[in-house]
Amino acid sequence: MTQKFDGAVVLITGAARGQGRSHALRFAAEGADIIALDLPGGIASVNRYYPPATEEDLQETVDRVQAMGRRIVAGAVDVRDRAAVEEFVQSAVAELGEITTVVANAGIFISGSRAEDVLDDEWSDVMGVNLTGVWHTCKATVPSMLRGGRGGSITLISSTAGILGLEKTAAYTASKHGVVGLMRTLSNELGPHRIRVNTVHPGATKTDMILNERCFNLFLPDSTDPTPEEVAPYFAAGNSIPVPWVEPEDISEAVLFLASDQARFITGNRLKVDAGFTTKK
Ligand SMILES: NC(=O)c1ccc[n+]([C@@H]2O[C@H](COP(=O)([O-])OP(=O)(O)OC[C@H]3O[C@@H](n4cnc5c(N)ncnc54)[C@H](O)[C@@H]3O)[C@@H](O)[C@H]2O)c1
Repeated sequence: MTQKFDGAVVLITGAARGQGRSHALRFAAEGADIIALDLPGGIASVNRYYPPATEEDLQETVDRVQAMGRRIVAGAVDVRDRAAVEEFVQSAVAELGEITTVVANAGIFISGSRAEDVLDDEWSDVMGVNLTGVWHTCKATVPSMLRGGRGGSITLISSTAGILGLEKTAAYTASKHGVVGLMRTLSNELGPHRIRVNTVHPGATKTDMILNERCFNLFLPDSTDPTPEEVAPYFAAGNSIPVPWVEPEDISEAVLFLASDQARFITGNRLKVDAGFTTKK
């Protein structure tokens, strides 16, 4: 049976776990081959907040894609390192063919301080991964998409923090607004080549990024060992649809749609998958 993404080569950053892994599995299930990047071990400033992805996580993504009968090229690459991203993309393209689809998903989340208290390394790391890293991803992949001449889709993963001025997340909010600007310019520059560029804005999503004590303490500052069950009502109170968080797979469906032929004239859009968080605010 023909699948929606037969012949597609989909590059996903931050593919070791969470939403990135979910995207890799969803595209592979539709027949795509995958190029996966991640940074096992993480970055010191972020590791103070929540545990990083591991080499085992990235390997699990590889194993699960291969178990579906698809090809995958995976690498431990820091999206902040432009030369490393470009070198990795070139070698992956030599193996799998020109890229048709990009999901710039790698991101880090640091929160809890007012803007004037954000530390220098926190600011530069968040901007380095969430904004500069997204630009590096586009810079390394667009030439391949142009060479392929098949058009395609680039989805930049923003956040509700790319729409609202969320308090105590200044760097994250600035970075996630930044990718919207990058998306808008890219959609204009690449439209003539039938390459569509959009942002997806997840609300709270059930991954390690938010399911951790530091994040739970934003709601329950005095609790020493808060559980997901304890914080769920606080998360849910922010959404118009009464769920605390969405699943990574919910975000994958939006990304898959944007990358599909069904969305062939959808470009320059911000697609929210947030259970109503931004409209309720
Ligand atoms: N979880 C949420 O509630 C939520 C909400 C809105 C937006 N987002 C965004 O969704 C995206 C995916 O996050 P997630 O929820 O799956 O969290 P996650 O922490 O599980 O996944 C993020 C992945 O990015 C990788 N990564 C981090 N820095 C990297 C770097 N320098 N180079 C390469 N890879 C790097 C991590 O190792 C990790 O595997 C992020 O851009 C995040 O900001 C998440």
